[in-house]
Amino acid sequence: MHKGIAIYPGSFDPPTNGHLDLMERGAKIFEELVVAILRNSEKSPMFSVAERLEMLRALTGHLKNVRIDTFDGLMVEYAKSLEATCILRGIRAISDYEYELQMALMNRKLEPTLETVFMMPADKYSYVSSRLVREVAQAGGPVRGLVPEIVEQKLREKLDPAYKLRDARQIAVLNKKDLNKKEKKRKKA
Ligand code: PNS
Repeated sequence: MHKGIAIYPGSFDPPTNGHLDLMERGAKIFEELVVAILRNSEKSPMFSVAERLEMLRALTGHLKNVRIDTFDGLMVEYAKSLEATCILRGIRAISDYEYELQMALMNRKLEPTLETVFMMPADKYSYVSSRLVREVAQAGGPVRGLVPEIVEQKLREKLDPAYKLRDARQIAVLNKKDLNKKEKKRKKA
């Protein structure tokens, strides 16, 4: 186990099974792993930072040495503020390598003491990305097995507001039935 803090930065919009797989692997080799969501991304995200925080917290509840945070600005500055020693990033396929290498070398130029550590997620997730998950979900396709169930549910709610409404109505109907029962009991008594 590597002593100290490692940061796993990213957009996580939304978190995928590949991300979760990497967090589980990272949690085994680092003493503390901070999953850090970039706050000021230029892209217009599908999920707000608060929604991503909530999903990631729920997904990593079983990993005691993992915590979720957000950051702004330069990642190396954030890493320094936590006294982190490593950055964790995932590489799925050779196509990721060029971008990741560029980023790792730029981060090293900015902060030479910070090491980037690459890990590979399980090969069954090697084609899974947040962008493709969003694309498939937005087109109404199935994302089961690509994202955790909580995320699948959130995607459904986000893309079909009627779904959330249906849930709320069902709860309202159940509450009404419950109230009616109580009222009947009260009248009998
Ligand atoms: O999940 P992503 O979108 O591939 O993550 C990219 C991320 C957030 C790790 C990267 O864009 C980042 O660290 N941004 C913060 C700004 C920064 O430090 N830029 C210089 C990195 S070379």
